Amino acid sequence: MDPIIKKFEKQADKYDKKRERFEFGVHRRRLLSSARGKVLELGIGAGSNLPFYPTEVELTAVDFSPSMLEKAKDANDRLYGLNAEFIQGDVDSLLLNDQAFDTVVSTLTLCAYRDPNKVLHNMNRWCKPGGQILLMEHGTSSNKAISIAQTALDPIAYAIFGCHHNRDIMKLLAESPIKVKKSERYMSGILHLMWCSPR
Ligand SMILES: C[S@@+](CC[C@H](N)C(=O)[O-])C[C@H]1O[C@@H](n2cnc3c(N)ncnc32)[C@H](O)[C@@H]1O
Repeated sequence: MDPIIKKFEKQADKYDKKRERFEFGVHRRRLLSSARGKVLELGIGAGSNLPFYPTEVELTAVDFSPSMLEKAKDANDRLYGLNAEFIQGDVDSLLLNDQAFDTVVSTLTLCAYRDPNKVLHNMNRWCKPGGQILLMEHGTSSNKAISIAQTALDPIAYAIFGCHHNRDIMKLLAESPIKVKKSERYMSGILHLMWCSPR
């Protein structure tokens, strides 16, 4: 198994507990209350967003970690009952129809993708014209001292968690085809909420 997938496999129980604790629940609720229609969620993990989707959405959820996906599916079956399909796959190479989804969601994942630029291009492609791309991401802080510490600690954080702590989220979006319509930052500028549209 790919060593990056292995890293997330080992964290599936931890992410299941994060879902039970509704981690970042206030932000997830605000972001996902506008999800509509056919929804594609990339890197769903153990399903932390499931409690916050409007009940009428049709969800397609993707993750490359079988254990994460199993936790998410089990939580949906037991607790949330959304109309959902769970696909094990790598968002770098996933084959989905262009312009197939009304809403594309990715939360706390741009830190983990091997090639975040490519995934942002894919999101843009998979979203219908007039659809929405909803992101909650963490990246480098707007506080200089914190961002220096994030960069210094990044090799250790990546080795342990499989996710980078110093990616420049605003820059990644500016270089992507995606248009940011509204954004908010929290936690010394580390956490971003973004309401976007495809071009
Ligand atoms: C930090 S966790 C975030 C989980 C969840 N989105 C949340 O908000 O709590 C990142 C997730 O993305 C998945 N992931 C990372 N890279 C991926 C890729 N290239 N393709 C599919 N899933 C990926 C990991 O397996 C993991 O479940």
